[in-house]
Amino acid sequence: MQDLFGNNQRYLTLEEIIAEYGKEAIDFIPKEGNVFGFWMQTLADIQFLDLELSGLTKSYSIDTLNYKVNLNGDNEFVRNRIAHLDLVNSKPTLYSYLIDLFEDTNAYAFHNLYPYKGKFYPRLVRTLINTFNLKEGNLILDPYNGCGTTTHEASLMGIESVGIDINPIGNIISDLKNELIFIDEKVFDVNTSVLIRVFGQLENKKLNVKNDVLKKLFYLLYFDTKDAFVRTSRYNRKGLEGLFIEKFNYIKDCYYKTKKFLNDWNINYKKAIIKEGNVLDLKSVSLKEESFDAIITSPPYYFSLDYVGKDNIAYDYLNEIGFFNYNMEDVKNEYLGMKVKSNVNAKRLIEKKVVTYFEDLEKSVNEMVKVLKTGGKIAIAIGDSTLDGNKLPTTKKTHDFCIKNGLKHIRSVFNPLLGARNRAIRGESILIYSK
Ligand SMILES: C[S@@+](CC[C@H](N)C(=O)[O-])C[C@H]1O[C@@H](n2cnc3c(N)ncnc32)[C@H](O)[C@@H]1O
Repeated sequence: MQDLFGNNQRYLTLEEIIAEYGKEAIDFIPKEGNVFGFWMQTLADIQFLDLELSGLTKSYSIDTLNYKVNLNGDNEFVRNRIAHLDLVNSKPTLYSYLIDLFEDTNAYAFHNLYPYKGKFYPRLVRTLINTFNLKEGNLILDPYNGCGTTTHEASLMGIESVGIDINPIGNIISDLKNELIFIDEKVFDVNTSVLIRVFGQLENKKLNVKNDVLKKLFYLLYFDTKDAFVRTSRYNRKGLEGLFIEKFNYIKDCYYKTKKFLNDWNINYKKAIIKEGNVLDLKSVSLKEESFDAIITSPPYYFSLDYVGKDNIAYDYLNEIGFFNYNMEDVKNEYLGMKVKSNVNAKRLIEKKVVTYFEDLEKSVNEMVKVLKTGGKIAIAIGDSTLDGNKLPTTKKTHDFCIKNGLKHIRSVFNPLLGARNRAIRGESILIYSK
């Protein structure tokens, strides 16, 4: 093509344009100093970074234009703890090491052991532990511990914790996360032909494995495999056995990587205490008043979310082999807001459930405040429930209950759920208080 003066002119190709701007981008993304993590995506992440820094160090400033943080003082401690920086003093943080090792920004160590509804993401727990500047010697509680995200993350940070939940399957998962790392390497070294035999035994409900921890792991992986086949035909080509083997090998890989991580960073993994119990009566699980330095938790907030139903394969199986004895309906009835007699019509029933839910939520805040030390900190992740397309003011109510129970509000962060296509789920708030 010729320009106005008859000179030959050539437009840059797309590759050339990208290469040209790319040169600039290489310098634009900082490689030195205290650099933001690439996983930071929202304004909430900047707020979380700020909260973490406020707990971990006295003086700092955040430079959002250059994706950097200015720090003074002993930065090695910050490097070992922070969950929102990639580099500190130009060296990879423990967190970026961890996610590089597992090639995932959240599913590291045994966090991805088994799918559980309404699960925390581990980075949030780590951030809150940092915000409260908790260390070895402190004690953390999660009275809605679910599948143990809080307790496992505390363990990985060498901090003691207690997890309470009403859901027996959740407690099995939390306990396994606690125990797996202590299994002997030789026991974990199971090859494919043994796994095929194990799978056959599981199918016949006659699992013959000596190690109790490994046995529980096999059960869970088996339920997860069966459940995957009920929900989708995606795995048909792999077959049940193939998927089971794949899942076991994934956990085996997590086991070696977690060992390496703990060794490389010299971390003393602290086993958590996992107990079955009801948050509405923490005394009955022997929790003493004023005994916890911090509570990090998330109550159930979706009426629509069936936390128990998904596990029917597990309940049927474990009841049948006599591993435990639970009626799923009884477990459901212990849930927040579910203890309502069903001798009323459907509309009245749901109204009663909403009222009972808020009464229970208030009672649970009251119970939590009792066991928290004076000066202790509490973080609650909660979102607004949706019922028949209507929003319930769950977040506002939770805040009111906290204030009514004498807690001092420190900060709230709204954490949007990126990519949500459903009006019911936009995100959740992290409400933070001190006693
Ligand atoms: C939003 S989930 C918490 C998930 C958890 N943060 C995790 O990462 O797995 C809410 C949990 O509250 C538990 N729950 C509901 N009612 C309870 C009650 N009355 N007492 C104790 N736990 C209860 C459920 O079993 C569920 O595990």
